[in-house]
Amino acid sequence: MSKQELISDIDILTEEQQQSEEACGVQVSEEENTGKNRKVYIESYGCQMNFSDSEIVSSIMKREGFDTTSDFSKADVVFLNTCSIREKAEQTVRNRLSQFNKVKEERPEMMIGVLGCMAERLKDKLLEEEKIVDMVVGPDAYRDLPTLIKQVDDGNKAVNVFLSKEETYADISPVRLDSNGVSAFISIMRGCDNMCSFCVVPFTRGRERSRDPHSIVAEAKELFDKGFREVTLLGQNVDSYKWSSEENNKGRLERKARKESDVAIVNFANLIEMVAKISPDLRVRFSTSHPKDITDEVLETMNKYENICNYIHLPAQSGNSRVLKLMNRTYDREWYIDRVDAIRRIIGDDCGISSDMIAGFCTETEEDHQETLTLMDYVKYDFSYMFFYSERPGTLAAKKYEDDIPLKVKKRRLQEIINKQQEHSLERNKKAIGKVHKVLVEGTSKRSDEQLQGRNSENKVIIFPRGNQEKGQYVNVLVNDCTPATLFGEVVD
Ligand code: SAH
Ligand code: SF4
Ligand code: F3S
Repeated sequence: MSKQELISDIDILTEEQQQSEEACGVQVSEEENTGKNRKVYIESYGCQMNFSDSEIVSSIMKREGFDTTSDFSKADVVFLNTCSIREKAEQTVRNRLSQFNKVKEERPEMMIGVLGCMAERLKDKLLEEEKIVDMVVGPDAYRDLPTLIKQVDDGNKAVNVFLSKEETYADISPVRLDSNGVSAFISIMRGCDNMCSFCVVPFTRGRERSRDPHSIVAEAKELFDKGFREVTLLGQNVDSYKWSSEENNKGRLERKARKESDVAIVNFANLIEMVAKISPDLRVRFSTSHPKDITDEVLETMNKYENICNYIHLPAQSGNSRVLKLMNRTYDREWYIDRVDAIRRIIGDDCGISSDMIAGFCTETEEDHQETLTLMDYVKYDFSYMFFYSERPGTLAAKKYEDDIPLKVKKRRLQEIINKQQEHSLERNKKAIGKVHKVLVEGTSKRSDEQLQGRNSENKVIIFPRGNQEKGQYVNVLVNDCTPATLFGEVVD
């Protein structure tokens, strides 16, 4: 099948499938006018990590004398922060570049940079393939942006795709883009060492490294002092967070002067406790938890602090142990079920659990697929991101296995997974009816100014009629109705 046919096939997905395929959407920088000389427009695709990186980029650009804009036709510099996770994600960026081309024909001085995972995957090949691109910058090279911009100003093309083993941007205070002023994301680690066979992330993001916990706590505290009431700690695999003062550069220099007992090791359970202690009014969330690493210690810490939210994103990918082995996920169905049982035992049945699922991975049989559906029946996820397998060049699966499931079959299996999830989302939401939920108010609902919206600890969106409540306030809401996606209720006190 030609590439073009494949793309048009993807385009005829149903609305639910498209929502799932584009799970993370797109984020655009806001208009900011502080009288700076030049303007930068940043459009971001992919996961929260990418959105969080755009806030680092924005901070670096601000220091360089740029204001942000929400209108690319007014920008001096246009950045696309890109995602490579599935073929469709890359295609979206290529379509966007051809739209920018039209503006560039009229304003040739407009600089166009591709940042993020696609920049890292394609490197200078991207300059050949997309003639309008002036700059290619990988996710660990953002500190170099001022130099790269100068190179382009001087009439050259610029590339930096160096992947670092240390960079965490710990000292750069992100400029919050598209923020509701209530919840913010904090990157606590970068990269990934897991090498799931379908996944491009280890190649685009490099080795896993954890950020200094003191800088994480300081950032969370600063957000709390500014009025934020929720932080989400981000990493591809947060449960393998580990920071040791011994490995830290400063620690190494000072090692001779230290006693062995002085060496501090902070694991993920310790970190969430440190952030939770900032204030009982600061909600703590995190994503993503890898099933192989989530420990009872983390679950017990979640249980100990009311402000650590009862919600875990625990992607299964498949319910079949043979497929999981081919995916190199390093756990099997039984291990996964054991972790779900531990969540239910330690935190309780209310704890929200969500998943990512891939339909039609290499060699997946109908029986294997049925096991994904029966795993879903066992867990009853509150929510899932669902995809069909998209082969990524350079990954272990692309090298070792044939992408042998026809697109039609992948789509049918994906539809069955989506239908099952819809049933479970409704069933789980119905359990919330008749109960009072503590809701953090995030602002007005998208549907009407007369209604407010927020989330409960389990990450469910709750909509209720507006009273005199303010954004950032906690309110008790009695839930009286629901859809698979939303709860509805009214404030009680
Ligand atoms: N670090 C997270 C996942 C990050 S990528 C984890 O390990 O769970 C987000 C999701 O994209 C993955 O969980 C997976 O479901 C999906 N995904 C990744 N590569 C894919 C591919 N090649 N085809 C289809 N879906 C993919
Ligand atoms: Fe990709 Fe696996 Fe790492 Fe997640 S854990 S980012 S799926 S390699
Ligand atoms: Fe995409 Fe890179 Fe995130 S590939 S999902 S933007 S880490």
